[in-house]
Amino acid sequence: MSTLKVNIEDIFEFATQDQVQSMKNAFEQNLKVLHNKIGKGNEYLGWLNLPSSITNDDLHSISECANSLREKSEIVVVVGIGGSYLGAKAVLEALNHSFSGLLPSNSPQIIFAGHNICEDYHSELLELLDNRSYSIVVISKSGTTTEPAIAFRLLKQHLESKVGKEEASSRIVAITDAAKGALRQHSTQEGYKTFIIPDNVGGRYSVLTPVGLLPIAIAGYSIEQLVKGAASAEEQNGQNISFDDNLACQYAAARNALYKNGYNIEIMVNYTPKLHYLTEWWKQLFGESEGKENKGIFPAGVDFTTDLHSLGQYIQEGQRIIFETVISVANTNKTLKIPEDSENLDELNYIAGRRLSDVNRMAQMGTTLAHLDGKVPNINIEIPEINEYWLGYLIYFFEKACALSGYYIDVNPFDQPGVEVYKKNMFALLGKKGYEEQGKLLREILEE
Ligand code: PA5
Repeated sequence: MSTLKVNIEDIFEFATQDQVQSMKNAFEQNLKVLHNKIGKGNEYLGWLNLPSSITNDDLHSISECANSLREKSEIVVVVGIGGSYLGAKAVLEALNHSFSGLLPSNSPQIIFAGHNICEDYHSELLELLDNRSYSIVVISKSGTTTEPAIAFRLLKQHLESKVGKEEASSRIVAITDAAKGALRQHSTQEGYKTFIIPDNVGGRYSVLTPVGLLPIAIAGYSIEQLVKGAASAEEQNGQNISFDDNLACQYAAARNALYKNGYNIEIMVNYTPKLHYLTEWWKQLFGESEGKENKGIFPAGVDFTTDLHSLGQYIQEGQRIIFETVISVANTNKTLKIPEDSENLDELNYIAGRRLSDVNRMAQMGTTLAHLDGKVPNINIEIPEINEYWLGYLIYFFEKACALSGYYIDVNPFDQPGVEVYKKNMFALLGKKGYEEQGKLLREILEE
């Protein structure tokens, strides 16, 4: 039976088996605390049983909306940032043809906006949309985040002037809080179709709500399979699964054993560019969840073998504070062999007839051995293949491991107080009402 595999054997030169085993009680206890909803941030545990509680009706109404947008749009612009952006982006990048933007397709192209405030990016997006038929999905849990609010204002006005206010309203879907925030108010006023982000699901844990599911369904992928994979992960890493069989606990314990021994940076490694954004999503999940109170492992990412020709040098020989978590994919979806060449000028004939995935696997094995030699501990997480099911599985697996890890270092893994600091400075510098004093102070510092 295909299953997720977690191999922590290659950490034991750097942290002992006893160290990991000694965490068993703490993790089993934290599992209870999490499921009994008595720990830090317990008002944000809606994600915990989300996969098993999504109903067919929920999925149906998301699919229905997705189909209606698919029918009327060449492009769907998904507006959001952070947790309202990265989950869908990760799944779409993993499932899309690598050159989907250049190929004809029956599905609309999904383009993201509102995850930066770059003038060129958004100007060029509007230029592109001038001659395309498009719809907008705007996502913001708080409904007040500046970046997506700016993008949405631009896009809404563009769409309205292109197709008229009434048609524009039928092409805009908002995903936001049930009652609070400017986006909810705006949607009610304009009569947009809306979906709700439950109160008890935080942004970075929201990919299995309409936040992730609607864009994924619009792109034509099976949200049923995604949720099914997540539901398997929910069951297999559940409350009654003991530490020894609970892979989310094992992964969380292994990384914390390394952290205790001075390994402060975890690099997520992939050997396929399709997983680049899964790493970005994972970075956000762990970075925002654990990085507080002067604690937490710094989550970083590399794409191998590409980055073996850049950051590979640092990993091999730089400061010994890094460990790697490799996401291995057992089977590719396509087959390609290296051809024979009669001239053999590149001297590759010794691998002619072999599949690229075979060469990639040898690169992976060689790299792991080299990095172990260079004293870089290694955790390996293997999925059988990249598809909706296994992406859903990984998403839930990491959410669970992250929550448990956060409890282990005694932080609230569901808030992000640090994110507010830049926002306040930005508002003060922009002259927003209520921030006058801080604006004065900041300008004085800048003029010094
Ligand atoms: O994880 C989080 O809560 C954040 O990253 C949010 O998702 C991000 O700040 C966007 O917030 P919102 O959906 O309220 O616009």
